[in-house]
Amino acid sequence: MFYRHTKEIFSRRAAKDLIDYYGGNGGHNLNTSRGELGYALFHYAMISNIRPERVLCVGSMKGFIPAICAMACKDAGSGNVDFVDAGYDEANANNWGGIGYWKSVDPDKHFSYAGLSAWVTTHVMTTEQFANTTRQRWQYIYIDGDHSYLGVKKDYQLFWPRLDKGCFMSFHDVLLRRHTDVRYRGFGVWKFWNEIPEKGKITIPFTYSKTLPSGLGILQKA
Ligand SMILES: C[S@@+](CC[C@H](N)C(=O)[O-])C[C@H]1O[C@@H](n2cnc3c(N)ncnc32)[C@H](O)[C@@H]1O
Repeated sequence: MFYRHTKEIFSRRAAKDLIDYYGGNGGHNLNTSRGELGYALFHYAMISNIRPERVLCVGSMKGFIPAICAMACKDAGSGNVDFVDAGYDEANANNWGGIGYWKSVDPDKHFSYAGLSAWVTTHVMTTEQFANTTRQRWQYIYIDGDHSYLGVKKDYQLFWPRLDKGCFMSFHDVLLRRHTDVRYRGFGVWKFWNEIPEKGKITIPFTYSKTLPSGLGILQKA
């Protein structure tokens, strides 16, 4: 059972429910038993303050960050989230933790939990395919898809030109150099992040997990 008023995101019980249902995990610096949303609150705060028309979220196992972004739009009374995920599963080298979820569910039905379907448009395709289908611009962008150096760089190159001036693009896993799971040893977001000049760049290094120090990177467009 979820709460009728989504601003109860700030209640421990509602946060726990959201984390459980949408598959939030320690990589987002959250703590399920304490109902702490970790990095998700940065996304919520950004959107609450920007009040964007459109938000872009790339990559999610079960929709945790897209759901938080949708909730921020809903609570702010404006904006809509484009969520893009190719729906890769473990058989694909680019899954980075993907479980083929988006090819097996009805996304609208999935995001009906906490009443978020009207605030999310799901695109089950690669980021390159998606970029070719739209001329959309965004005011907040979150990148958590292909975690290889070339993959994250490509997503940056595809979407940075479509971000409005003064607005923000954020990246998950900017600090994680060596994943404990051997399947994900190709993480290269940290390398991409090191190449970004310091001006307009913020690195959030805090993380509960000592073994998976993920990091959140935020970049403002001048
Ligand atoms: C599972 S997320 C990483 C985990 C995420 N931090 C979370 O908490 O859910 C990575 C996702 O990116 C997607 N993905 C990988 N490469 C992609 C691409 N080129 N275009 C779209 N989605 C992609 C995969 O399908 C996968 O679901």
